[in-house]
Amino acid sequence: MPRGVSKRVSEVAPYLFAELDKAETNARARGIDVIRLSIGDPDLPTPPFVVSAMQKYTADPKYHRYPPYGGTDYFLSNVKEYMKRRFGVELEKDHILCLIGAKEGLAHLAMGILDPGDYSILHEPAFPVPASTSRFHGAILHYCPLKPENDYLIDLDAIPSDVLKRARVIWVNYPNNPTGATAPRAFYEELVDFAHRNDIWIVNDLAYGENYFDPAKKPLSILEIDGALDYAIEFHSFSKLFNMTGWRIGWCCGNKTLIDAVASIKNNHDTSQFGAIQDAASEGLLHPDAESWIRANNARMRARRDMVIGALRDAGIEMRAPDATLYIWAPLPEGFTDSIRFAADLLENTGVVIAPGRAYGPSGEGFFRISLTYPESEIEKGMARIAEHLAKR
Ligand SMILES: Cc1ncc(COP(=O)(O)O)c(C=O)c1O
Repeated sequence: MPRGVSKRVSEVAPYLFAELDKAETNARARGIDVIRLSIGDPDLPTPPFVVSAMQKYTADPKYHRYPPYGGTDYFLSNVKEYMKRRFGVELEKDHILCLIGAKEGLAHLAMGILDPGDYSILHEPAFPVPASTSRFHGAILHYCPLKPENDYLIDLDAIPSDVLKRARVIWVNYPNNPTGATAPRAFYEELVDFAHRNDIWIVNDLAYGENYFDPAKKPLSILEIDGALDYAIEFHSFSKLFNMTGWRIGWCCGNKTLIDAVASIKNNHDTSQFGAIQDAASEGLLHPDAESWIRANNARMRARRDMVIGALRDAGIEMRAPDATLYIWAPLPEGFTDSIRFAADLLENTGVVIAPGRAYGPSGEGFFRISLTYPESEIEKGMARIAEHLAKR
């Protein structure tokens, strides 16, 4: 008889998007014409200046050997310069670490900082990886609900003192997946002060740092705040920055103890990302066309945002337009209270796949998420089907 798998695997909830994929595959097998508006995976291409650099670098035999563990020197220099130009943050290169995507880094950080019985403070709704990987390492989870009445910001004063005494870390993600909320400077100042007072690490997930709809409201780096470097590590990703989800590349930067913790775990799990990917992606950050490319990409996403919000309003669903991310977080239409049932109902009757709010945490109940990473024609068709279905009820 096989002896089964670890407790950690059997106890963790199934990965949300793997489950959505299964429901979608079943629907297709039953002949339903499926339109996906669920996953945050950009449909638009990677910038041509990154692709052409990659073509050049893959042909260079110097890249065909193991890359240096923490990242190539060129990658670290480019990221250092980008952090300075974009956020005004000055970092030493050994405060930066190349990642095989932000997800990989977040997961390895959990392993690097948590021991069984430590509290890990998280918000929900949220991208699920900090919670699942905290649990993998025996941490006790304390969830802070994000509420529309608080602009989806964490209420730090509501965290009980017995949790604070045993907490190692607080995980924060703004611009936020799934709610689209952004955090003002005052929130980051309060968070850094909170970390100093309670001696708790901060993990700031800035995966959507360049996905903003209004250039006057660019997201901030927590490292801009005085004293942040004492407690904070920040995660960046090329996935949504340059439409590069398939390339698997990102970085973390900030507090040296935390960077070294991630590096120490990674050195025993992987040997960094292909150097050609590191150099092509990071060179792109400083390319003369980078800013205008980001501006045009965000303008296109903004037009999609307005298209979805307009269609939902016409169908009687009202919400605030988000300032950032690639998502619309909308309340369920009248008559629905269960987001998973609503998602199943839409899939069955319209073929449209959306992400149910509850899948991101209990406070996500009552909401659903639409991703803007699909062609305009698909979005238009999907929204028309949703409107028609809701009008018939
Ligand atoms: C909040 C958040 N962090 C991290 C990631 C993962 O980024 P990467 O593709 O760099 O692993 C995602 C992906 O959807 C995300 O939504």
